[in-house]
Amino acid sequence: MSKVEAIDIRKIRAQFPVLNQQVNGKQLIYLDNAATTQKPQSVLDKLDHYYRFDNANIHRGIHTLAERATRDFEATRKAIADFIHAPSSEEIIFTKGVTDGVNLVANSFGKAFVKPGDEIIVSGLEHHSNIVPWQLMCEERGAKLRVIPVHEDGTLDLDAFRKLLSSEKVKLVAVNHASNSLGTVNPIVKICSLAHQHGAVVLIDGAQGLAHLPVNVQAIDCDFYVASGHKMYGPTGTGFLYGKREWLDKMPPYQGGGEMIKEVTFEKTTYNELPYKFEAGTPNIADIIALAPAIQFIKENTREAMANHEHQLLRHASDKIRGLDGVRIIGNAVEKVGILSFHVENMHHFDVGQMLDAKGIAVRTGHHCTQPLMKRFGLEGTVRASFAVYNTEEEVDVFIDALGKITGGLSR
Ligand SMILES: Cc1ncc(COP(=O)(O)O)c(C=O)c1O
Repeated sequence: MSKVEAIDIRKIRAQFPVLNQQVNGKQLIYLDNAATTQKPQSVLDKLDHYYRFDNANIHRGIHTLAERATRDFEATRKAIADFIHAPSSEEIIFTKGVTDGVNLVANSFGKAFVKPGDEIIVSGLEHHSNIVPWQLMCEERGAKLRVIPVHEDGTLDLDAFRKLLSSEKVKLVAVNHASNSLGTVNPIVKICSLAHQHGAVVLIDGAQGLAHLPVNVQAIDCDFYVASGHKMYGPTGTGFLYGKREWLDKMPPYQGGGEMIKEVTFEKTTYNELPYKFEAGTPNIADIIALAPAIQFIKENTREAMANHEHQLLRHASDKIRGLDGVRIIGNAVEKVGILSFHVENMHHFDVGQMLDAKGIAVRTGHHCTQPLMKRFGLEGTVRASFAVYNTEEEVDVFIDALGKITGGLSR
């Protein structure tokens, strides 16, 4: 039995109603999972149930609906803490997603710890949301942004990273767990260890990590880990920041408002305990509650089986794409998640994407919010196919066949 057959693909696909439709007269093949994943029935049911039966504001109410909503909201926090092996659920702050989490740390950590002349390191593989917040913070604090270069195969230049750290001015290193454009899995344990040896803290952008890879924040030893719920089968507008308590305790609030306070007077306000200190205002209660079944979905199908399946799809697609004339894979790291970026000679990526869409195949085209990385490869953008657990080898075959026809035929 192959690894792909190790998961019950039919049973999995049956849980995703959106997959069962025709687009432009063809069966939908959804290969845009790095942008957002589809949602299983259990997530849809939870959302529906919440609004039908439990809708209430959380934490401050003593009535039954408020208690039910609070219980389920806090249960998600506990589920996330368990899922990523955080020491305590008080170290899990709910956010709107990775962008919100990075901005929280850049603002709050920046205000407390970054001084003129300090340095922040990001990598050349980063999404704009793990670049721009640091640029804004560096401008404000008089700090400098440094960048780890990217090798031709899409991996990070760790020798250059060591050199950057040797300035002994680095306060924080922010890198992704896996690249959304190339699929490269970064050596985050090593990156954390090297940074810590030089007194720098590390934030991991887990947007593409948590959806595909096992995450144990204690084993990684990162100081912060941020993720988006919508990239791991959960609703949009959800996410979290994990932070080591030693940092979260010392960091000032990011936003002011209800819930994050202990006591307010016009003279002085004191702040709530963790995690509420960082959760001002009414949160996205329904969607956060519906994130719990998404985590349960991943747990039920087991991380390893899902990763094996996606990996097999990636290998199958990569092998086949190498057989197409004029199509070049961008990013050939040995360790990749199920993300496949490619460039088609003499064709604009938008045109390729549109022609695939006409055949019911959804891929992403463009710079994928990684303009510096595209520039590094001398490109404006790529076509990107990204896989999730519900994709099949047959879908990959249809996709490559369509691509072969669009780009002028198969070479073998
Ligand atoms: C690696 C990476 N970082 C950050 C983000 C931003 O995530 P969000 O838009 O959910 O905040 C994305 C989204 O594509 C991503 O892939």
